[in-house]
Amino acid sequence: MKTPRSRSATVLLALDLFPMILRLTILPGDGIGPEVTEQAVRVLETVASRFGHQLQLQRKNVGGAALAVDNDPLPADTLHTCLSSGAVLLGAVGDPAFDHYARHLRPEAGLLRLRRELGAYANLRPAVFFPALEDTSPLRAELVRGTDMMIVRELLGGAYFGEPRSIEGEEGSRVAVNTMRYGEQEIERIAKVAFELARKRRHKVLSVDKANVLECSRLWREVVTRVGQGYPDVRLSHQYVDSAAMLLAQRPTDIDVLLTENMFGDILSDQAGGVVGSLGLLASASIGGSVGLYEPVHGSAPDIAGKGIANPLGAILSAAMMLRHSFRLEREALCIEATVSSVLGEGYRTADLARKSQSAISTSEMGRHVVEAVKGSALPAERGERAG
Ligand code: IPM
Ligand code: MG
Repeated sequence: MKTPRSRSATVLLALDLFPMILRLTILPGDGIGPEVTEQAVRVLETVASRFGHQLQLQRKNVGGAALAVDNDPLPADTLHTCLSSGAVLLGAVGDPAFDHYARHLRPEAGLLRLRRELGAYANLRPAVFFPALEDTSPLRAELVRGTDMMIVRELLGGAYFGEPRSIEGEEGSRVAVNTMRYGEQEIERIAKVAFELARKRRHKVLSVDKANVLECSRLWREVVTRVGQGYPDVRLSHQYVDSAAMLLAQRPTDIDVLLTENMFGDILSDQAGGVVGSLGLLASASIGGSVGLYEPVHGSAPDIAGKGIANPLGAILSAAMMLRHSFRLEREALCIEATVSSVLGEGYRTADLARKSQSAISTSEMGRHVVEAVKGSALPAERGERAG
């Protein structure tokens, strides 16, 4: 016998969703940023209408695109809009036209300030191997098959932000200084993020440092070990960054959560992109503050900008991370991830993924395939315990 329900409950159950208004700031940025972001927005629009949510988008400039208009890589209006939205989706920053500008007037300075202003200290960079891409990885299939790691990169400390920093002296005898600096609390909070994530995964944390040479790394190792004592169910190991680089290439499947400081994380995450087949696939979430920032790991790729051939999947998967981490919309995130996997399974490849015998499709064609597959996909069951 049927249980009577209120009309609104029936509607919600029928739609199997709880409608939300998603207020997003879109920062297309530079190079291939606008092209890949456009596809991610199309996919978000499709997912939103599929699940009954409403998108409210505000597009703003950042990086070189903002410098060209405002002489500031992070104009006040852009920052204000980001801070008052539910989440930020960014394409890429970086433009060789600004290479000779002072540091604070480079596109990258806009992104670094944005991360700091948003308080985004935890950068999650999953590197997951798609079965359809066995032939795309430079590694042998039996080595890379099953790779599923989460790089947890500290994002607001280390040499990226440490003071003092300078280039001083006379041409020919100038001296440059950067400071790598880490405080115990900074290390503690990022370590907790890594251990919490490990609990939802395979219960392993690999902490990467250079404790045989750097003071920052010695403190890092000490604090991570201490935090780890509060997580007896998580297996913690430590590795020097040089040997971790080798492990990443030799036994990527061994790695579950890889926890590391800002610059090591920048380097190792690009390497992880190479391992799984293309940096164009990698997504990221920069969280910890009031508003999350989501961006593909690849940069602005000026060499292919404007050609319509960039891989939009990193941006599309970043949108999935946004749904998961900023809006707790796990099923919507899973829908995008499953769709990307099936589109790759059908053999669609952008130029970065195509092998000699395969024909490459454009950025917008790849976006269209994902959009069509989202429209036609069965709603996945909630996986719940797995954050990616
Ligand atoms: C990244 C990028 C940025 C970084 C640059 C563009 C500042 O390489 O997100 O990995 O170094 O963090
Ligand atoms: Mg990088």
